[in-house]
Amino acid sequence: MAYLIAVLGGDGIGPEVTAQARRVLEVVAEVGGYDFTFEEGLVGGIAIDRTGTALPEETLALCQRADAILFGAVGGPKWDDPTATVRPEQGLLGLRKGLGLFANLRPVKLNPTLINASTIKPEVLAGTDLVVVRELTGGIYFGERGRRDNGQTAYDTMIYSTYEIERVLRVAFDLARQRRKKVTSVDKANVLECSRLWRETALRIAREYPDVAFENLLVDACAMHLIRRPASFDVIVTENMFGDILTDEASMLAGSMGMLPSASLAEGRRGLYEPIHGSAPDIAGQGIANPIGAILSAALLLRYSLGLEAEARAVEGAVDAVLAEGARTRDIAEPGAEVVDTATMGTLVADRVAQALTQ
Ligand code: IPM
Ligand code: MN
Repeated sequence: MAYLIAVLGGDGIGPEVTAQARRVLEVVAEVGGYDFTFEEGLVGGIAIDRTGTALPEETLALCQRADAILFGAVGGPKWDDPTATVRPEQGLLGLRKGLGLFANLRPVKLNPTLINASTIKPEVLAGTDLVVVRELTGGIYFGERGRRDNGQTAYDTMIYSTYEIERVLRVAFDLARQRRKKVTSVDKANVLECSRLWRETALRIAREYPDVAFENLLVDACAMHLIRRPASFDVIVTENMFGDILTDEASMLAGSMGMLPSASLAEGRRGLYEPIHGSAPDIAGQGIANPIGAILSAALLLRYSLGLEAEARAVEGAVDAVLAEGARTRDIAEPGAEVVDTATMGTLVADRVAQALTQ
């Protein structure tokens, strides 16, 4: 089978970690006899520098042609002027909206060998294995915004339709059916009208899934329970901004932001795959970033866009094996322990993947 994979490294450590994820995919193609074509595109700050816009038309067109998109990260101090009208983040938000990537899956699974890398007590963390399904193309991120009163008053609007809520809830319930069959819907229904519509809709959809346990949780309470009883969650589904905030919090359960992948899915097979960490400009260009979040994102790409489940598992298994053998990038190393660089971690995983798939 022939597949076109768009590679958008973006800014900061984005290109470094994406290169390792691409390598792993190259190994999968080589060993499995698949025909993957990789095509690079500009996005984010680097696209602003070269073309004046964060999402050049060429890049959007490439992504529309592609079967899947491997994405790094965007942003950095160079483009951080709060008064700028062109911002790197517009690249990512434009892709999400432009490709209809409404469901963002962010799995948070504690690797047992990293239980001490987290700042949270091991007994609280044990057994953590959850997925946050974040709505990605609606809410306050895309509602009307602006200034009035001579710029002295600013407003952003949270807006949701029943249709938008329903489709992301269905993704969450379908996913729960393949897992431990529990959905927690997170809202702020005691204050926000959008959340009241969300909750009403969630209760209705839940009735279509009598085999799935269902609960509602207010977002502030969820933030607390996430670090108090993380292992009790299976699938958490929530609106765009709540999901943004809760997943940064949840990433700490896995020990490091550098570990976590994500999949942003549209109707159909196309998806965008990116680590949940940002561009980390402070460590960019040093070759010390953790590529595991990007590599695990490539595994999700294999699973969701290409339907290559065995290969996806081989990549995930390879990461586990390499970690079990003690390989650590700086962010997940215990004090004083030996560390490997970005490329070495990539090579270790890629070699393992080759081994696993040749057997
Ligand atoms: C994320 C990021 C983005 C978001 C930014 C870069 C626009 O924080 O993917 O979580 O807020 O969605
Ligand atoms: Mn975020």
